[in-house]
Amino acid sequence: MSRVGVAFRLWPRTFEEEEQTMSAFEHRTVMRDEVIERLDVGAGTYVDATLGGGGHTEALLSAHPGARVIGVDRDPRALAAAAARLAPFGARFTQVHGAFGELPDHLAALGVASVDGVVADLGVSSPQLDDPARGMSFRAEGPLDMRMDPTRGETAAELIGRLDDDALADVLFHYGEERRSRRIARCIKRADADGQMTTTTELRRAVIRAVGPARVGGVDPATRTFQAIRIAVNRELDELESLLRVASQLVAPGGALAVISFHSLEDRLVKRALSDKETWTPVTKKPLVASDAEQRDNPRSRSAKLRVARRSQGPSQEQGQAAPTSTMRLRAGRGEVEDEGER
Ligand SMILES: C[S@@+](CC[C@H](N)C(=O)[O-])C[C@H]1O[C@@H](n2cnc3c(N)ncnc32)[C@H](O)[C@@H]1O
Repeated sequence: MSRVGVAFRLWPRTFEEEEQTMSAFEHRTVMRDEVIERLDVGAGTYVDATLGGGGHTEALLSAHPGARVIGVDRDPRALAAAAARLAPFGARFTQVHGAFGELPDHLAALGVASVDGVVADLGVSSPQLDDPARGMSFRAEGPLDMRMDPTRGETAAELIGRLDDDALADVLFHYGEERRSRRIARCIKRADADGQMTTTTELRRAVIRAVGPARVGGVDPATRTFQAIRIAVNRELDELESLLRVASQLVAPGGALAVISFHSLEDRLVKRALSDKETWTPVTKKPLVASDAEQRDNPRSRSAKLRVARRSQGPSQEQGQAAPTSTMRLRAGRGEVEDEGER
């Protein structure tokens, strides 16, 4: 038995187990109503950059009969679950397997030049986090994988093997804001050299060897290390920067971008991008947080911050050289700016 509690090996899976995981894809959508309300959904084309279980997409499609959604996800399991859930919407829903950092390519392949809104609900889904075989959590033993897309890229174990002590410490410091990064990196690399860095249990054990088992502020000592390595494996912040950059080109004037972030590294990037006044007009001046009821029902929503902005009129539109999109016409006369206060 390991120190992380339930330590049974769930991989490789049998076909029946695989089937059960697919049917049990349960992710509770965070701030669903807040997103839909602020996007002011009309007839038009929307992108759900983080399709997951399809919760935000379902809400977008239900909000207006003329709405079409292109849902993007790196995770083939998420796509399969969402396809089943969204089948009743027929051709109004299109899904794409890929990273949202490559959104222009995905949309070009579909012949879409601009969209009326983009939603991104960042990070990993509950099924990804809770499935020991994905290796994202220290709560159960699993292979040290952590890829959102298990069909490509470097696993966490491979990343740890490739980086030297200093580079690994930088990952822990920058992506986990881990102050004891050098000590932890040394212990991880030592375990790796001994051939003991292939499971989540071994990674947590190396962290504890470096800093001890005490929880700091109620948080497991391995939390920051796991977050940092997962962010590095999936290049989460690079992906977010790409998304924020391309959204300003893809969202049509009058269209909106809604981003839900779950930690300060993400929120900082979103805040900075949306503060570009030439490109975006804030819909939420300060980030919205989940209601008390949602935070009680879904602990994951407690760290969520939603920022929404509307694409400003480009110079050419201001000079009257381009027609407004259908969605813009629907929205004429609104232009609300909210200030919910930072909590
Ligand atoms: C929090 S979940 C989304 C849940 C979804 N909004 C719902 O309500 O069901 C995040 C999803 O985004 C996907 N994802 C994260 N980063 C991605 C990226 N750069 N490109 C594509 N998909 C990504 C993950 O695989 C995961 O399925």
